[in-house]
Amino acid sequence: MNNFVFWSPTKFVFGRDTESRTGALAREFGGRKVLLVYGGGSVVRSGLLDRVKASLSASGIEWEEMGGIQPNPTDDRVYEGIELVRSRNIDMLIAVGGGSVIDTAKGIACGVPYEGDFWDFYCGKKIVEKALPVGVVLTIPAAGSEGSGNSVITKRDGLIKLSLRTESALRPKFAVMNPELTFTLPPYQTACGIVDMMVHIMERYFTNTPDVEITDRVAEGVLIAIMEEAPKVMCDPENYEARANIMWSGTLAHNGVCGTGRAEDWSSHFIEHEISAIYNVAHGAGLAVVVPAWMQYVAGVNPVKVAQFARRVMGVVSQGDDKSVAAEGIKRLKDFFMSIGMPVTFKELGIDNPDIERLVAKLHEHKGERIGGYVKLSADDTIKIYEMMQ
Ligand code: NZQ
Ligand code: ZN
Repeated sequence: MNNFVFWSPTKFVFGRDTESRTGALAREFGGRKVLLVYGGGSVVRSGLLDRVKASLSASGIEWEEMGGIQPNPTDDRVYEGIELVRSRNIDMLIAVGGGSVIDTAKGIACGVPYEGDFWDFYCGKKIVEKALPVGVVLTIPAAGSEGSGNSVITKRDGLIKLSLRTESALRPKFAVMNPELTFTLPPYQTACGIVDMMVHIMERYFTNTPDVEITDRVAEGVLIAIMEEAPKVMCDPENYEARANIMWSGTLAHNGVCGTGRAEDWSSHFIEHEISAIYNVAHGAGLAVVVPAWMQYVAGVNPVKVAQFARRVMGVVSQGDDKSVAAEGIKRLKDFFMSIGMPVTFKELGIDNPDIERLVAKLHEHKGERIGGYVKLSADDTIKIYEMMQ
């Protein structure tokens, strides 16, 4: 097991009606005037935004608002938010929504105290040292941004989608998590979230670091629980207990606990981010297409961990060699994605003629000549992986 730092200081407030505590939490973390950031309207229609505002009022907190954040959020809204926060003396961001909204709030939070262009942080020119505090009221379990120090933003000019990783600066101060808020999620978004959280675990699971049994077992346990709860939320969207299990899994998948003490991979995410940057598909759906292809490719080079995944997570019982066990595990994973209505090919994702040359060129321009940890992939490899998704 490698040395590690595990830093997850977010205060998670989980359960029914917890959004009524938003004002008190904002006050606890020093907010006096907040910017409420939200998406395309689901939180307005559900009445959640009004409830959050009432909670802020009850705690004597003022607010301004910025709505209309779209999935796969873009830099223009971050610039707009930075101006708004600076001009109105706002001292805290509260994101009411999912990953796209949270990540926009994080972009604003690190951009405000910085004199240069906030994009410097995303393209790796600068390291975030200061940021305004961010709070979250989560409405979709998926990206795990409520517990991560990361933010993913797309620069409109050139469609460059990059993830910023910070150890501590952008971890939310608090995250309100009421599973009831997820009852209104359309089945497609629910399924996208399930895939995304599973892949956040897999990116950490597939490692060559030896003697990481504890993190392996934590990761396997969360993955198995997600696959058991998934059909319940798909058939019965108002099943509180199943929604609650899925919601907490999304956080555990990405707050770092499943990755302690080991090298991580992340090539599936990098491969997917190029797809959602250009074609604006839902990130989780993109991953459902990428991961089986990626896994099949790496199993051809290094089947050991894929076979372990097949045996321990996908329940493959076979006397066969690692390669055949791995192949059966991948087939079962693909079947699972299909069972919750996810696409597994470019065509099913709505992309008839993917520009693979462009995807590969952008991928290696952004992430270097070789990507990944479990198997290091060059452009010769990633082109084959994209081709396998057709
Ligand atoms: O915009 P509204 O109207 O709110 O609708 C949203 C949006 O259309 C809808 N939705 C959310 N909660 C709802 C709801 N509809 C009904 N009822 C509710 N309770 O769901 C749609 C998707 O929302 P979005 O925020 O885009 O989803 P998600 O949480 O999957 O975030 C995706 C973004 O996060 C990035 C992705 O790349 C993508 O840009 N990621 C961020 C990460 C991080 N910060 O750590 C890690 C991830 O790997 C990921 O890359
Ligand atoms: Zn993801």
